[in-house]
Amino acid sequence: MRAVVLVGGFGTRLRPLTQSVPKPMLPIGHRPMIARLVDRLARGGVTEVVLALGFRPEPFIEAFPDGRCGEVELTYAVEPEPLDTAGAIRFAADAAGIDDTFVVANGDVMTDLDVAALVAAHRGFGAEATLHLIGVDDPSAFGVVDLSEDGRISAFVEKPTPGTEPSNLINAGTYVFEPSVLDRIVPGAKVSVERDTFQHLVGDGTLYGMATDDYWIDAGRPELYRAANLDLLSDARRFDRCEAVSPSATVAPDATVRNSIIGDHVVVAAGATVVDSVLLPHARIGGRAVVERSLVMGVVGADARLTDSMVGADGIVDDGSVAVGMAIPEPS
Ligand code: GTP
Repeated sequence: MRAVVLVGGFGTRLRPLTQSVPKPMLPIGHRPMIARLVDRLARGGVTEVVLALGFRPEPFIEAFPDGRCGEVELTYAVEPEPLDTAGAIRFAADAAGIDDTFVVANGDVMTDLDVAALVAAHRGFGAEATLHLIGVDDPSAFGVVDLSEDGRISAFVEKPTPGTEPSNLINAGTYVFEPSVLDRIVPGAKVSVERDTFQHLVGDGTLYGMATDDYWIDAGRPELYRAANLDLLSDARRFDRCEAVSPSATVAPDATVRNSIIGDHVVVAAGATVVDSVLLPHARIGGRAVVERSLVMGVVGADARLTDSMVGADGIVDDGSVAVGMAIPEPS
């Protein structure tokens, strides 16, 4: 089975990290987010993935130079301009010549969903499209559905006003589509799958949903990107775990590291403390610095204190300074 994976967004919420690395290439537990996603699709029977890219394909091509990620064949569809989610699916599917049932996945979703079960449910429903659904406490920031007993979706409301949500079941960002869905998307046009295509499918009664209680995180938000990493240190995930400290990192013997991921080639100097944080490849933490609940790609100076913050590749936290709730450098 083939899958289209949407990886062309700007990743604005994860700036400044995404100013040097596209969001799907950011590591989760020392591996690019996209590699973990492709592994999951492969476990569910996907053998070929088409990456729907809006811009800058180079980092992906460099990361997977032989066009494979594990056993999965990767192809690239680069849009001339960002076409939004449905436009991107149509563009990528046309480029790959998709003419059979296929899977679609948002590139920033980390989940333990069994994709084969979603495909089986889709076939059982006789659906034109089937969405993976997850129940959440506050659904208002997501696409929320009204789900009938027989699995049919009778309403899909994108980001409803709080208090007006039809249920607590949200679009979890993995779909199974029949090729007929593609005919509903004008080629080359900027179209949203959530605001446009799903509405037409609901109108025709051909959109279905399968709710599960699998692990699920939208890793496109800073606090959830951090959680998606740290969850690999616990038993939160069904298949995935990782080591806290990369073998290529250098951590001073008297530094304290608690519930944190220390990435490739990171240096943590003497007396530093790193708690509930993710240090991305090549980050440098100075002597006696304290880093809490933060994401760091750049440099944290000696004796600095960084809390609830993000430091991009060019970011420098000056020696002895204090930063709370900051993005460094401030995204332009
Ligand atoms: P933010 O800017 O932080 O909202 O992130 P984003 O740009 O990734 O947007 P969002 O998380 O809403 O997008 C959902 C998924 O669709 C992500 O996997 C994006 O990479 C992808 N995506 C969004 N817009 C486009 C587009 O125009 N083209 C392609 N190919 N993918 C897109």
